[in-house]
Amino acid sequence: METLIPTINRLQEVFLTVGAEIIQLPQIVVVGTQSSGKSSVLESLVGRDFLPRGSGIVTRRPLVLQLVNVPPLKERLKSENGNGIKQNAQNSYPGIKAEEWGTFLHCKNQIFTDFQEIRKEIESETNRGTGDNKGISPDAINLKIFSPNVLNLTLVDLPGITKVPVGDQPEDIEAQVQEMILSFISNPNSLILAVSPANSDLATSDALKLAREVDPEGRRTLLVVSKLDLMDAGTDALEVLLGRVIPIRLGIIGVVNRSQHDINTQKTLQDSLKDEQAFLQRHYPSLASRAGSRYLAKTLSRLLMHHIRDCLPDLKTRVTVLSSQYQAQLNSYGQPVEDHSATLLQIVTKFASDYCNTIEGTARHIQTSELCGGARICY
Ligand code: GDP
Ligand code: NA
Ligand code: MG
Repeated sequence: METLIPTINRLQEVFLTVGAEIIQLPQIVVVGTQSSGKSSVLESLVGRDFLPRGSGIVTRRPLVLQLVNVPPLKERLKSENGNGIKQNAQNSYPGIKAEEWGTFLHCKNQIFTDFQEIRKEIESETNRGTGDNKGISPDAINLKIFSPNVLNLTLVDLPGITKVPVGDQPEDIEAQVQEMILSFISNPNSLILAVSPANSDLATSDALKLAREVDPEGRRTLLVVSKLDLMDAGTDALEVLLGRVIPIRLGIIGVVNRSQHDINTQKTLQDSLKDEQAFLQRHYPSLASRAGSRYLAKTLSRLLMHHIRDCLPDLKTRVTVLSSQYQAQLNSYGQPVEDHSATLLQIVTKFASDYCNTIEGTARHIQTSELCGGARICY
């Protein structure tokens, strides 16, 4: 994801300036049966440990996770001290001395710098909304994570599809969870990460079934095959990963997340990524470069890039129109102008033309970028 950050940041500035909501980055939603590895997959995308994971129903309310890119702490401190860098309301978080932190909508003023505490707060807030006996609720928990290492992007973690009610779950738990999932993935601006474990039959995948309902042509569904390490001896997922069982337009990516034992022994995400790669090299040498959590992140970046590229022509038109409006207004002032507002307009006009260059630059960058070199994406 890192390669995308500077590009998107620059574009984000353009949007702010022209007041556009033209590019709404797709929201990434994970869907799958209970314990298929959804929360694990999201964690590896964010690169931090902070989500409750485990066997049984752990995620019991939707978690809407908004990632917010902020400048590194060093830069933020500099701008607070007024040394050179211009103060920008978007980028200044006075008083926060952490590189990365989180906040929840339900307790806005509390800053979480310890990611273990974030996990605990998700757990407590889940219980506050649903009781502690496995109940579920469609009320989302809203978490923002601020970091220099993330894209401005929204990810949604959802409860898993389950058939048989346990604990305080209602009789119609299956229907309720499905409805919850559909309410998120029917949004055409959502990218569906359908997570299916390798040790169960893909043909019966509930994730794919739901994804098909809202995205029959598969334009915004990516299949993640988890638990490659848990297949029966003598079987492998090669045919599935090659798309010979069920073809998926945007791609099929196999991953190995941390096992419950790994979680219990607090294996780090970094070690897990290393072991995942080693596993893939050993068991799927021909596919190793097109599988794994890192490749999944790269693929998502590429999909987002394509989405952005598709939005650029619109954005350029918008900036051009705005710029000529300002120019006309400028001319109406006659010259010479002493008026401060006119000077302001001049600055904005100059900005607008600079921005057009940025947009063109970005478009060129996307065209030639190696990110786009691979498979054809139709998103
Ligand atoms: P979710 O219910 O779909 O969100 O799944 P979780 O991410 O909570 O994972 C459920 C359980 O499966 C946890 O105990 C994970 O450690 C385990 N798990 C998830 N993915 C993998 C995997 O790829 N390999 C192994 N061995 N365990 C996994
Ligand atoms: Na689970
Ligand atoms: Mg989960």
